Amino acid sequence: MKPFYLTTAIDYPNAAPHLGHAYEKVLADAIARHVRRTGRPVHFLTGLDQHGQKVQQTAEKAGIHPATHVKKTSKLFTRLWESLSISHDAWIETTDERHKKAVRTLLQRLYDAGDITKGTYRGYYSVRQEQYITAKERREDGSFGPEWGEVVELEEENWYFALKKHLPWLRAFLNSHPKAVFPASRLRNLVQAVEESEGADLCISRPKSRLRWGIELPFDPDYVCYVWFDALTNYISGAGWPDGSWDAGGPRFDELWPNDCNVIGKDILVPAHGIYWLCMLHAAGFTDDQMPRFLVHGWWNIRNQAGESEKMSKSLGNVVDPQALVDTVGADALRYYLLSEMTTGQDADFSHERLIVRTNAELANGLGNLLNRALNMTQRYCGGVVTRGHHDDPLLAEVRDAVATLPARHLAALETWQFNRALEAAWSVIDTANRFVERTEPFKLAKDPAQADRVTGIMHHLCEALAHLSIFLEPVIPAAMSQLRAQLRWEPPAGLTYHTLRWGLLPDGHTIGKPKPLFTKIETDAAAPPAAG
Ligand code: ME8
Ligand code: MG
Repeated sequence: MKPFYLTTAIDYPNAAPHLGHAYEKVLADAIARHVRRTGRPVHFLTGLDQHGQKVQQTAEKAGIHPATHVKKTSKLFTRLWESLSISHDAWIETTDERHKKAVRTLLQRLYDAGDITKGTYRGYYSVRQEQYITAKERREDGSFGPEWGEVVELEEENWYFALKKHLPWLRAFLNSHPKAVFPASRLRNLVQAVEESEGADLCISRPKSRLRWGIELPFDPDYVCYVWFDALTNYISGAGWPDGSWDAGGPRFDELWPNDCNVIGKDILVPAHGIYWLCMLHAAGFTDDQMPRFLVHGWWNIRNQAGESEKMSKSLGNVVDPQALVDTVGADALRYYLLSEMTTGQDADFSHERLIVRTNAELANGLGNLLNRALNMTQRYCGGVVTRGHHDDPLLAEVRDAVATLPARHLAALETWQFNRALEAAWSVIDTANRFVERTEPFKLAKDPAQADRVTGIMHHLCEALAHLSIFLEPVIPAAMSQLRAQLRWEPPAGLTYHTLRWGLLPDGHTIGKPKPLFTKIETDAAAPPAAG
């Protein structure tokens, strides 16, 4: 079976990671874990976009080499991905020689085909945004907005990619491939942008006098490749393009491609991925069937004191540091919050209070208590042994029925990557199971020896429900589910999928372990960690 080839935007490590970066990796990781559980092999690639003007400038200011600067900042990302249990199969950095070689091969191919030519550019250039500014961006009084920072006038020779030539193909492709972009609203944005596009070619180089920290063009040693031909190419170079594999012994490019799901933020669909990348691939000879599919997520904003939603930005000083959150509430609590508060594809507001309230109510109380009660009572009343006892009570049937609804609800929600709805389905089972304990009152029944068989049946149903829940919650809270299974002393059999899952996961006579809290409750008045610098 062709592996599900999953990628995310590679992060630009000029500064520390922020909450948006963490969300994107957590979303992709949950997708990877979910798809693996459907029985399909997954190949998950991610990494870092380490070249560029901003890195060069920051390094210059600090008086260090750009390589030293990115080495330092890159560690902040790799540490975060490790602490968040991101389960990527391959890792790419754009300073890697294997990547540079692939970029040069792609550039040379397009140059040979006549799709890359030299031209002269005169115009305004934003140093901060690393891009030329067109008349569109100019205000009525002729000035440029503060978002552009310092704006200088430039005239220089550069290399151009014949983007214009491929736009008619792109229009036709997007109109005939409605699944190329999810959600549909983002596809409409893209189609509209292509319709309105002035059809300018894409400048792909910078003279070395201005930018040294990049990949040298194979056909002109006076220039380095500028941003997109370097960054976007990672999705193919990191898969072994043109004819190999990225890691020795790893899957080959022709086994992996096309990219089944590329998880990106809404800011980089237009024009980078939706226009440049698709046209680059088309120019390189990729067919319509070989085009990637994009999953475009929204942004994490933050509420200001007036209760209005604001963009997280360095200048507003409201950037949330995900590592600080992992260190205070724990990785799984953060993963749970990020995936349950976001409707995939839309924006959401981050709230530190809600993160704490939900961690306490749903993870520590709802799920944590269920596990704790189930294991404690099984230890106390059944000597730690799960036996398939009494079965006929309608209350027991309610638990079995609730568990039986899980696969369909979970799979339906994840057809459009709505983890929030998948989690609602799992939590309805958790709530049913907790109510079941209150209604059956096994702690009272246990006092009457005549009820022993009923108590055995109740414990069996609780432990069995937890084994099922561990499968459905694993994509979102993997570390906690592996702890839960260690306490249950049960591991899913190799090859278990959502489709082969049946009531009766725990063998008759199975011995469970001792309960330990999965989540610690967080003080509600705990101060929010300071914003990232
Ligand atoms: O764009 N909420 O890198 P990057 C959610 N190197 N997601 C956010 C976000 C927010 N507030 N802010 C950023 C780059 N992101 C390029 C990509 S890929 C060939 C090159 C997301 O570090 C953003 O949308 O600025 C993007 O998907 C990712 O973080 C990396 O952003
Ligand atoms: Mg960016």
